[in-house]
Amino acid sequence: MNFITVESYDKLSKRAASLIAAQVLMKPNCVLGLATGSSPIGIYKKLIEWNRAGDLDFSKTVSVNLDEYIGLDGTNDQSYRYFMQTQLFDHVNILPENTYVPNGCAADLAKECEEYDARIERLGGIDLQLLGIGLDGHIGFNEPGDAFISPTHVIDLHESTIQANARFFASEAEVPRQAVTMGIGAIMKAKKVLLIANGKAKKEIVQKAFFGPITPAVPASILQLHPDLTVVFSEE
Ligand code: GLP
Repeated sequence: MNFITVESYDKLSKRAASLIAAQVLMKPNCVLGLATGSSPIGIYKKLIEWNRAGDLDFSKTVSVNLDEYIGLDGTNDQSYRYFMQTQLFDHVNILPENTYVPNGCAADLAKECEEYDARIERLGGIDLQLLGIGLDGHIGFNEPGDAFISPTHVIDLHESTIQANARFFASEAEVPRQAVTMGIGAIMKAKKVLLIANGKAKKEIVQKAFFGPITPAVPASILQLHPDLTVVFSEE
């Protein structure tokens, strides 16, 4: 594991964005696994800046996102599809047909999950997976539990996650109670994993996840077994 501590959110964003840019430069037709939440916003700003300056080309790049709330479609400003459009996709030259986010409004969610994994396989797997980390150690929406769940699946969000994510909604009652999330399987199969964690509040869970026992009670801890993991942490 390559554990990098930096002193500010700006440095975290620059460092992580550089690693993503390096991936795209080395393999323009790579598959990027992308994440939502507040932490990656600075990274996406940098990628937009470099794309606009002509230094980074996404025209051959494919993206697969980690997760989506159930019941929110892409027009809903709280959906993760909407987040990705407004924070990144609408501002860079990635082709719309090359961006995948699970469909949380699919009539048959079991089929949607199966197809999501099959698509990742067809694309040749993920070259670089970007991850944030929840306060309870979740990655994507893989919540703490009794076992690591490998395939893309539907998950009941834990109360602490609902509370943590309520800051993005008008009220806690509006936070969807379920989500579709890529499972631990596709994440662990990614050739590279880049996890970012920002702020004092994340320090304890980062400690547990990367320097504590590997347990499904802390889903991110499984990443200790990944052969190419970089963690960028800022306490700011
Ligand atoms: C959500 C997302 C995760 C993200 C987490 C942390 O629950 N599903 O992918 O890592 O939030 O978000 P933040 O970066 O805002 O702390």
